[in-house]
Amino acid sequence: MPDLVPPPLSLYVHLPWCVRKCPYCDFNSHAAREPPPFEAYVDALVRDLEHDLPLVWGRTVHSVFFGGGTPSLFPPEAIDRFLQAAAARLRLAPDAEITLEANPGTAEHGRFDGYRAAGVNRISFGIQSFDDGCLRRLGRIHDSREAEAAVKLAQDAGFDNLNLDLMYALPGQDLAMAERDLERAFALQPAHISHYQLTLEPNTVFHVRPPEGLPDEDLAWDIQERCQALLEQAGYAQYETSAYARPGRQCAHNLNYWRYGDYLGIGAGAHGKITLGAEQAILRRWKQRHPATWMAAAGSAAAVGGDDRIDPERRPFEFMLNALRLHEGFAVAAFEARTGLPYAAIAAQVEQAVARGWLERDGGRIRPTALGRRFANDVIGLFL
Ligand SMILES: C[S@@+](CC[C@H](N)C(=O)[O-])C[C@H]1O[C@@H](n2cnc3c(N)ncnc32)[C@H](O)[C@@H]1O
Ligand code: SF4
Repeated sequence: MPDLVPPPLSLYVHLPWCVRKCPYCDFNSHAAREPPPFEAYVDALVRDLEHDLPLVWGRTVHSVFFGGGTPSLFPPEAIDRFLQAAAARLRLAPDAEITLEANPGTAEHGRFDGYRAAGVNRISFGIQSFDDGCLRRLGRIHDSREAEAAVKLAQDAGFDNLNLDLMYALPGQDLAMAERDLERAFALQPAHISHYQLTLEPNTVFHVRPPEGLPDEDLAWDIQERCQALLEQAGYAQYETSAYARPGRQCAHNLNYWRYGDYLGIGAGAHGKITLGAEQAILRRWKQRHPATWMAAAGSAAAVGGDDRIDPERRPFEFMLNALRLHEGFAVAAFEARTGLPYAAIAAQVEQAVARGWLERDGGRIRPTALGRRFANDVIGLFL
């Protein structure tokens, strides 16, 4: 059996409040009725981090991601205080990528300078669309002009590593509208674009009452193909199912997830995955979802919603679910080091997938073909 070798480590920090809950969103996010308790939340984050520290003694953190919710609701001083506390307790790599998610409806003058001074070096904007009708139907709190203005504010503050989240297959959207969304995104010259197909998630308003005018499957497919081509032409290379980047601007934090790397998850409802070298185990840990419940318990075992040790039998599927999203696929050596299993554990399934034209081998790497990407669910199903 190969040894399980702890892979690179990331830190995910969940900030759970939003101005308003969007009807399509199933993230652990809550409309804030009054200003959220930023200071108390940061105190709780530090306690939560301290509680999890024994899981990662001595390891270096290569990326930090403030996700939400709407992290840009938090004042820069709160982000700064958290990052200072984290740097005092963890070894942060000097070149660590530090991302903060921002909703354009919360952008204020001066905020981005503060985030930059705190050490944030990447902003991920939830743009969704530049069409004001689409934005209204999505229940967004901003229009397209505000979105453009927010991106420019961040650029003026010196942020050159920006991601724009766009969604497609939106209610009322046709091919030309999806193209125009991309053109307006390109005009802002972001380093990265995430292009997600709108999905109707259980437990959302859209699931109960689907919006009118949703594109059918054929149109959604046409939009996806056309947009993929436009993104490539504009210099954004697709490297994952929904992620496109200029050269050298892939998201290090998300790449680490997809490469089956490790991450500590702190904050309400945050998920983590940690390889415990000494025990030769992989631990998944998640925190209490509700902000008030989590805050009251942070720093104690009661804040942990659950711990799950991933048996060797489950590891190939988990690994593939992530790795096969990536155009680069994976190295056989990485499979062995990150699952603690010999390649023989997946060799037969890989052969089958190669025979069907879904995967291809190239030296020590295995990667999905265009056909394999199209039938991703079937490919992954082989490893269940
Ligand atoms: C946690 S949100 C981050 C940013 C911030 N909260 C905002 O919305 O402005 C992450 C992204 O996931 C995408 N997303 C959320 N719900 C989705 C859904 N049902 N289908 C497709 N993409 C979705 C959106 O593009 C969103 O920007
Ligand atoms: S602002 Fe973002 S996290 Fe908040 S509800 Fe909307 S999509 Fe979800």
